[in-house]
Amino acid sequence: MREVSEAYGRRSDEYVRALGSLDSTHAEDQKLISRWGRQIKGPIIDVGCGPGHWTEFLTAQGCNVRGIDPTVEFITSARQRFSQCRFALGSAESLPANSAMGILAWYSLIHHDPVRLDIALQSCHAALSPGGSFLVGFFTAPAHAPFSHAVTTAYFWPLNEFVSCIEHVGFTVLETHERHDTTSRPHGAIVAQRS
Ligand SMILES: C[S@@+](CC[C@H](N)C(=O)[O-])C[C@H]1O[C@@H](n2cnc3c(N)ncnc32)[C@H](O)[C@@H]1O
Repeated sequence: MREVSEAYGRRSDEYVRALGSLDSTHAEDQKLISRWGRQIKGPIIDVGCGPGHWTEFLTAQGCNVRGIDPTVEFITSARQRFSQCRFALGSAESLPANSAMGILAWYSLIHHDPVRLDIALQSCHAALSPGGSFLVGFFTAPAHAPFSHAVTTAYFWPLNEFVSCIEHVGFTVLETHERHDTTSRPHGAIVAQRS
């Protein structure tokens, strides 16, 4: 994790400029995250919030949300850019148990290999109270494979394999979404519930 967050730290200004606003996001993702966030009754954690724009988006929808990220530079920048929102240093692996009703992990688990992904998913599951909801976004492909992401190595996941990883830690998968377009890498999203 340290290597990943140091790699993000070195390019955080560039990342915030290029990808740190809703302008760089897909309208379908805004719809999904908004619909998901508005039905959650209780605290939401935006895990791996990066620049903080999704935390700001959910805050503006009336959600009780805080963004956490292991990259100091992102947390410093997010606090300055979105001073009305709450941000703290943290990681997917160190979430307090039973502390949330919603966890958004939007492209923040893309650098985890399968073993680390399992640990992070277990932590997200334990951090949710019963009935809590998990929304994860990631890159899809027909086969699991690492690739050279602009910041540091990331992984493609077949949607059904990611579903299996999520079910393996005890979640019930409620929704899956997949999108292929010509301008970006294939995208997947899963909504799951802690029963
Ligand atoms: C591709 S960026 C996504 C940022 C943001 N969620 C977005 O949608 O733009 C990946 C983020 O995951 C964070 N990250 C890396 N390792 C993490 C971990 N173990 N737990 C939580 N976040 C992590 C990075 O610091 C970075 O902010």
